[in-house]
Amino acid sequence: MTTARAPGKLMLFGEHGVVYGYPCIVTAISERLVVGPGESRGDTRFIDAAVKAWGKPGETFVAESSFSGKYGFGSSSAVTVATLKAIRSGATNQEVFDTAYKIVLEIQGKASGFDVAAAVYGGTLYYVKDKTIESLPITDIPLVVGYTGIKANTTALIEDVARKRAAEPEKVERIFEAIGKLVIDAKEKMIEANWERVGRLMDFNQEYLRDLGVSSEKLELLISAAKGVGAWGAKLSGAGGGDCMIALVSKEKRQVVEEAITQVGGQVIHITTGAPGVRVDR
Ligand code: MEV
Repeated sequence: MTTARAPGKLMLFGEHGVVYGYPCIVTAISERLVVGPGESRGDTRFIDAAVKAWGKPGETFVAESSFSGKYGFGSSSAVTVATLKAIRSGATNQEVFDTAYKIVLEIQGKASGFDVAAAVYGGTLYYVKDKTIESLPITDIPLVVGYTGIKANTTALIEDVARKRAAEPEKVERIFEAIGKLVIDAKEKMIEANWERVGRLMDFNQEYLRDLGVSSEKLELLISAAKGVGAWGAKLSGAGGGDCMIALVSKEKRQVVEEAITQVGGQVIHITTGAPGVRVDR
């Protein structure tokens, strides 16, 4: 009987552009999903698809999560990846990634696969769809995470952006190009652990996401609360519309930033970054 676990993720830079071939940076987090044999329950679409791909007919699996699916930490990808690994423990990361990405695309439609990559490889990754999965030499990222209390609809937000891109191709492509450049700069500054600069880049990334129309009042409220008490930078993380924001903070400022986020109605979630990728538990 094999069980396997896979981590959740947080998008650090480059959301939305990554769907169109621009780079992003994602980190795997300490929150994780464990899948093992058992009576399936809840939303079993991803488990069922993984069994259909690699399992035996009638095989059932159950997922135990250390986090709520509402946070946008990538539970669908993590459950798919962990189920595949539980079925075929000897599969390579590449095999798990390819099959899991296909499943997620079939069920969710348009997606870049960055969350599948985080669940499979772990760590902090520089990711370009269909091209690059590069593990970055970065350990602890000084992040504060604030949940807005609103569950984002990723598919709807991706479709919104697609509509905008069709209506105003030049404007949207310009935004993606600017985000893409900023991601390359962020990668370098993160490796240097120049967090003050990385924070500034988060602010710029957030401005572009605002122009793209994917931010929300609640996200802006949490972001300005964090910035108002001295975060180095802050932005939404993921599709936008709700889910979580992230702020980069110094050790000294962590507590006041957490308090400021809570005061405006956000929920602080404690995680660590750069968690290991999928692994067999036994
Ligand atoms: C959603 O978490 C991030 C998006 O870029 C979608 C994706 O990359 O699959 C909006």
